[in-house]
Amino acid sequence: MKDQVLKKFADIFGGEGDIRTYFAPGRVNLIGEHTDYNGGHVFPCALTMGTYAAARKREDRNLRFYSMNFEQEGIIETSLDDLVYKEEAGWTNYPKGVFWAFGEKGFSVPRGMDIVISGDIPNGSGLSSSASLEVLIGVILRDMFDFDVSQIEIALIGQFSENHFNGMNCGIMDQFASAMGKKDCAIFLNTADLSYEYASVKLNHAKIVITNSNVKHNLVGSEYNVRRQQCESALRQLQNVVDIQTLGDLDIEQFEQYQSSIADPTEQKRAKHAVYENQRTLQAVSALKENNIKAFGKLMNDSHVSLRDDYAVSCPEMDILTEEAWKVPGVIGSRMTGGGFGGCTVSIVENDAVDSFIEKVGAAYEKRTKIKADFYVVDIGDGARTL
Ligand code: GLA
Repeated sequence: MKDQVLKKFADIFGGEGDIRTYFAPGRVNLIGEHTDYNGGHVFPCALTMGTYAAARKREDRNLRFYSMNFEQEGIIETSLDDLVYKEEAGWTNYPKGVFWAFGEKGFSVPRGMDIVISGDIPNGSGLSSSASLEVLIGVILRDMFDFDVSQIEIALIGQFSENHFNGMNCGIMDQFASAMGKKDCAIFLNTADLSYEYASVKLNHAKIVITNSNVKHNLVGSEYNVRRQQCESALRQLQNVVDIQTLGDLDIEQFEQYQSSIADPTEQKRAKHAVYENQRTLQAVSALKENNIKAFGKLMNDSHVSLRDDYAVSCPEMDILTEEAWKVPGVIGSRMTGGGFGGCTVSIVENDAVDSFIEKVGAAYEKRTKIKADFYVVDIGDGARTL
């Protein structure tokens, strides 16, 4: 992929000068969904799939972007003096947002750039192609202009740009996973204080299989922000009766004791998910450390049910995928992953059941929805870097 991006760069922008290449991965979250803006824990891993770039500084203040995933759009031009969100700027709002966010954080970018992008994360699949693009631009800017920012700061700047430039009120999980990923490990991250630890997920007898439902309902952004508001409202009501900073501060017993202080039953369910999912994540990481993969898988299944019933961010297609997965012998656990309303499920499947999993779930899904699913048996890779 690196060679293809370099070649395309030479074709589009010319091959002379100091052209450098970079990579930032996508992510899959194993458990801990919709907890990252509730002060809870998450457990994502970086994939070996991700977004590549070739980039070169310019003498002037122009920015020229070209994506090999959207070749029909050609070169998209803007400038450091026009870093504002524009609907018609499409995907380039993500890189533009990061240029803008660096400036906001005191790292004003002095010169324009030419950048060619190419990704192998299926677009809109919920595997964080946009977060990987943000983190990628962060790594490029640090390297090209010697900005003194850490990988975690790059993740935070990416999140800041997504929140304030692109208007998606996401948490820190996706950018953190893309920046801080580690081969064969998941990241056990406490989003309340960004403390984290790596946990090995080198599963000897099983594989991580991602199933792409190939649907994306356009509720994603709007409903996401609604869920966030519902959790914030529930938190405010709980704070009248118990001294907490976030929903992640509550254990299950406390939640059961205080939940009646949340007036609206829908908000009660949303808060319940946030609290229980956080506790499930803590239990799942302990189970993994004790090599109890079965317990881990059961918690994944419970996570899906909670996302479906209490948090209401699943959709019929993802429910069918998990339902069919749970039927297949050798499936240890399966759940929707990411923000929801389409995208992917993640399953842990015993090695010798992977083929029958793909065959059975694929056939049943197609029969019930008339849609073909895609399957990726994935490897866990390292975080964003210069190539
Ligand atoms: C999206 C957001 C993340 C996280 C997940 C749900 O991927 O970008 O911050 O909230 O949804 O867990």
